Amino acid sequence: MLADEPVFEWLIKTVRPETIVELGSWQGHSANHMADICKAEGLDSRIVCVDTFLGGPEHWVLGDTIETMRRRNGMPTILEAFLGNTVARGNEGRIFPFTVDTATGWQVMRDLGFKADLIYVDAGHAYHQVVDEVHGYLPRLNEGGVMFGDDYYFEPVARAAQDMAKHYGFSLGVLQRRKWVFMTDRLMQNPAPEELGFEIRTEPYPD
Ligand SMILES: C[S@@+](CC[C@H](N)C(=O)[O-])C[C@H]1O[C@@H](n2cnc3c(N)ncnc32)[C@H](O)[C@@H]1O
Repeated sequence: MLADEPVFEWLIKTVRPETIVELGSWQGHSANHMADICKAEGLDSRIVCVDTFLGGPEHWVLGDTIETMRRRNGMPTILEAFLGNTVARGNEGRIFPFTVDTATGWQVMRDLGFKADLIYVDAGHAYHQVVDEVHGYLPRLNEGGVMFGDDYYFEPVARAAQDMAKHYGFSLGVLQRRKWVFMTDRLMQNPAPEELGFEIRTEPYPD
């Protein structure tokens, strides 16, 4: 969840998205980072952020991260932080929270015929969740659109990304051993520079 990794700039400059869907937004760091890049590129892009804003399992059990959810009456107030950060960056006209779980999100988008040019997967990190999200959201990509995700160093995510890349016939790009990308023909012709730690992976980490 390092929001400032160069994968965002490479993909936004290459794809020039009108619409971005982010699965898992937490307090809005990556969404605002993408919105800032779109602004700098002169793009009038919209970013839909699918998140319950209730935290994932890791936020409830890992160390003191439960405190970062600033619960009120037992309920996390992550959405308030997300909205505050978005307004502070002047991105309230570009970023739209969709406060549902990711499975509800793709079904609603399917029923509305909603599609995106970039889909960023950073919600749950269990194998089955990433697999379900790829199956659910890949049909929501416009022609030429790109799906990518976070936390490739985490074995269940890497395995899911590898299995889904094989299933759908993509080469799998990895940046800085962290971000995974389903490589389209256009991306294969415009790969991220090697100095950014870009490689095509055929096996998940750890090697
Ligand atoms: C790793 S954080 C996202 C970080 C964010 N992309 C960033 O870089 O700033 C994961 C987020 O996914 C959300 N989440 C986890 N499982 C989810 C699910 N099944 N449906 C919707 N949101 C989920 C959590 O509420 C949390 O806000």
